[in-house]
Amino acid sequence: MGEDRKIVEIEKIVSGGYGLARMESGKVLLVEGAYPGEKVLVKVTRDKKDFAFAKAVEIIKAHPKRKAPPCRYFGVCGGCHFMDMDYEEQLRLKKEMVMDSLKRASIDVEVEDVERSDQDLQYRSKVELTAVMHKGKVELGFKKRYSHDVVPVKGCKLASDKANRIIGFLPKLLEAFDVWVYDFRRKKGMLKHVVIRHAFSTDQVMVIFVTKTESLPQGKALAKKLASKFGWVTSIVHVMNSKDSVVLRGPYRTLYGEGVITEEYDWETYQIPPTAFFQSNYYVSKKLLDFVYSSLQLTGKERVLDLYSGIGFFSMRIALSAKKVVGVESSRISYKASLANANINQRKNTKFVNMEVEDFLKENEEKFDAVVLDPPRGGMDRQALMKLVSLHPRRIVYVSCNPPTLARDLKALKGAGYTIERVKPFDMFPQTFHVETVAVLSL
Ligand SMILES: C[S@@+](CC[C@H](N)C(=O)[O-])C[C@H]1O[C@@H](n2cnc3c(N)ncnc32)[C@H](O)[C@@H]1O
Repeated sequence: MGEDRKIVEIEKIVSGGYGLARMESGKVLLVEGAYPGEKVLVKVTRDKKDFAFAKAVEIIKAHPKRKAPPCRYFGVCGGCHFMDMDYEEQLRLKKEMVMDSLKRASIDVEVEDVERSDQDLQYRSKVELTAVMHKGKVELGFKKRYSHDVVPVKGCKLASDKANRIIGFLPKLLEAFDVWVYDFRRKKGMLKHVVIRHAFSTDQVMVIFVTKTESLPQGKALAKKLASKFGWVTSIVHVMNSKDSVVLRGPYRTLYGEGVITEEYDWETYQIPPTAFFQSNYYVSKKLLDFVYSSLQLTGKERVLDLYSGIGFFSMRIALSAKKVVGVESSRISYKASLANANINQRKNTKFVNMEVEDFLKENEEKFDAVVLDPPRGGMDRQALMKLVSLHPRRIVYVSCNPPTLARDLKALKGAGYTIERVKPFDMFPQTFHVETVAVLSL
């Protein structure tokens, strides 16, 4: 056996979906593709000072709930990580991951069972594909984990049937229109990505072409052909994004249809512009919205601050039972959509501010009774969190997509006198290691 190959036993699952094992020296190994209790032959892929990353190359003793993955690209494309595991067990593993992150931050609190997704395949409301030239042909695919390599696919098990029909058809159309595919290494070309957004409640479908360049000369003709092939496509948009690090950013023009899609919940209608953030699983976001709203325990008198408010997802519901809601959002497009959504839903007691949360908190003097926080993966900036604490909101509902940064911020909030009442994970991203977690805190 080579120096970089070892047989190890997996102790537990940790953040990032890694199976944790220890080498004879005691050094921690974070193993991709291995589950607790398994005995695996691993190959070390990145050796660091205090720990190493490894990949499972052979499963010697398998977890009893392993199953054959329903997708032929599993293990090659970087999108899914737990697809070879029974769904109920995935939920249990995610609970363990959240518990592990909290324990590492010395937070001793019960973690509730993970709220399941009623649909564990075909649930994604947004699929981001990368265009690539493969053996002289245009293909669409997904990027591998930690790499710029693209794995061409003919479809995706997490995407809806309609999204898959587009994925199956588009490469031929792009070729027929002679669209110049962008080469990420040489930084030459035009079309970088195709993004498909599907609003499940209204069945509206938006196709987005993301280019490096400002122009997409074939844009209008492409859109016409695509819309005539699939009469149910409701919008086609061209996004101009010169930055390679993010997929959906930059100015856009509508090539066909309205240029927004609409998602409906029990009491709300949301208009979603092409480049704005929106929750990626309709079924689970419905449950998340109900949970966040009820956790605030509103009586009609409260002033509520909704930080990282996006297009006003939580604000609209909160406005039903609060005296006033202030949403803070840095993206201009999302901010404008939140104003439109307040109008559509007749939520007159809302106010939206187009600012970075950090700057808003520095300047803000207003007191709030309750706060909803839904930051990106990095969590809250420490200074901003302390500024927030100085406003003494009685309740904080923290929505997080990254357990380690949630744990770090909860530790700070606990230190500032808050009690963690509940920690409830939601399975927003079945088949992947990602998990959404809501923590409810009170003063
Ligand atoms: C996880 S999303 C949540 C959006 C919204 N709460 C929802 O549920 O749809 C995070 C949002 O924070 C915004 N954002 C990121 N960094 C920000 C910052 N420093 N200040 C304000 N908003 C920020 C992003 O544009 C995005 O809309």
